Amino acid sequence: MRPHSAIVTGGAGFIGSNLVDRLLLEGIEVDVVDDLTTGSLSNLANARSQGQTRFGFHKLDITDVAFEEFVAKRRPEVIYHLAAQIDVRRSQIDPVFDAMLNVVGSVRVLEAARKAGVSKVVYAASGGTLYGATAVIPTPETEPHRPLSHYGVSKASVLNYLATYRELYDLEFTALALANVYGPRQDPHGEAGVVSIFSELMLKGEECVIFGDGKQSRDFVFVDDVVDAFFRAADQAGGMVINIGTGRAETVEYLFSQLAQICGYTLEPNFRPARAGELLVSSLLVDKAKLFLGWEPWTSLSEGLALTVDWLRSSQQ
Ligand SMILES: NC(=O)c1ccc[n+]([C@@H]2O[C@H](COP(=O)([O-])OP(=O)(O)OC[C@H]3O[C@@H](n4cnc5c(N)ncnc54)[C@H](O)[C@@H]3O)[C@@H](O)[C@H]2O)c1
Repeated sequence: MRPHSAIVTGGAGFIGSNLVDRLLLEGIEVDVVDDLTTGSLSNLANARSQGQTRFGFHKLDITDVAFEEFVAKRRPEVIYHLAAQIDVRRSQIDPVFDAMLNVVGSVRVLEAARKAGVSKVVYAASGGTLYGATAVIPTPETEPHRPLSHYGVSKASVLNYLATYRELYDLEFTALALANVYGPRQDPHGEAGVVSIFSELMLKGEECVIFGDGKQSRDFVFVDDVVDAFFRAADQAGGMVINIGTGRAETVEYLFSQLAQICGYTLEPNFRPARAGELLVSSLLVDKAKLFLGWEPWTSLSEGLALTVDWLRSSQQ
């Protein structure tokens, strides 16, 4: 059954705020919990002006006990857990910080959910880092989990906690293992999100750097499609880890050329040495999402890139 109320952790961030807009449109009451470290209130401008459905913003840190107290007061049916530190390089430099937020913070979310009698937690897992350097492309959920970064490990370890909370306390979950998500509101100044980073530099006429030869490929999935998977997961696919991507892999070089065309950019990219440990190819098989969520991606790369560039253009005005 569709829930009436939800808490979205990380709801002021890129994916979270797009999810909040969708939930409110569907008539679901939403409380956002975010400490605004990378998220922004401007991402919630639509939500705040929507006015039809109850919406609240709460500046809280998920690792803090105050978060548990808030969940106990609100007692939502579903928690969408997206709050995280998402910077792979930062996780390599400071694995303790990464684990405090991504592991301990997630355990806090599960404890809060258990104590408040929440029915379900939908978790934003990382499909791009979960399977490591597998030879099976596109990668199904049955592949072993072999993350190659501390971020990958912290995000993957939450899957074990989710399974254990389900086993011990009947707290239902669905984990969506996301490919490379892109679209409006992705931070062009962050470390993740090559689409936003390139688009912003191209619109400003500045140089874009490609690490390696540009032949490395990724599964780029548009944020609206991803949000739809989150929406569907509220009452389906219990106890499952489900890949959310496109099943395709586009090279960074191709992405660069597509964006250059959209932005009218004529400079050549600056090729720099490849980053250590970077995967050559990453793409997720999404048959399970079709079967258990009735979900398939529908936005083509060219459409999604055009929408992202439009958003960046308008947000720069
Ligand atoms: N963007 C992708 O391609 C991608 C791919 C796989 C998985 N994910 C996962 O999806 C989720 C959302 O990612 P995103 O790209 O929207 O990133 P984002 O940085 O835009 O969103 C994360 C949000 O969490 C908030 N936050 C950080 N620390 C917090 C804390 N201690 N307490 C409360 N809020 C806190 C931030 O302020 C931000 O609003 C993350 O869990 C990420 O691991 C993203």
